[in-house]
Parts: sequence; C-alpha cells; structure tokens
Amino acid sequence: MARIIIKTAQQPLEIKVGNESKWMCMCGLSKNKPFCDGSHKKTTDEKDGKLYLYHPDGTRTEM
Ligand code: FES
Repeated sequence: MARIIIKTAQQPLEIKVGNESKWMCMCGLSKNKPFCDGSHKKTTDEKDGKLYLYHPDGTRTEM
C-alpha cells in the first residue's frame, strides 16, 4: 500500500514550549516525525511548478 501526499513547506515550524523551542517537520521528509531532523534541506533546490517524488532510500525523482 502506498499513497502520495503533496507537501510544499521547505522549513520547520517553531513551537515554543515555555522557554524552549521545538521544531516541527512541515516538509514531510523527517525520519523523526513530528520533529524536524534537517531533511528539509534536500528541498532547497526544488523548482516552482515541478513535482518531486522522494524515495525511502533518500533519492528523489523529478516528475
Ligand atoms: S521541516 Fe521536515 S525535516 Fe525539517
């Protein structure tokens, strides 16, 4: 079973918990969800109007 979910965010969302910041994954690529693990950096060279498929092995395909 597989499904495609389209995400457009390229940065995490900061949530303040008291004086501490928690960074929530908004790109969908983190392996430590719901927290950001820095994987969103893979999206920085994405082009507007293009669709990218990210594979479990870390590679991606432009569609
Ligand atoms: S926002 Fe998804 S890994 Fe950082």
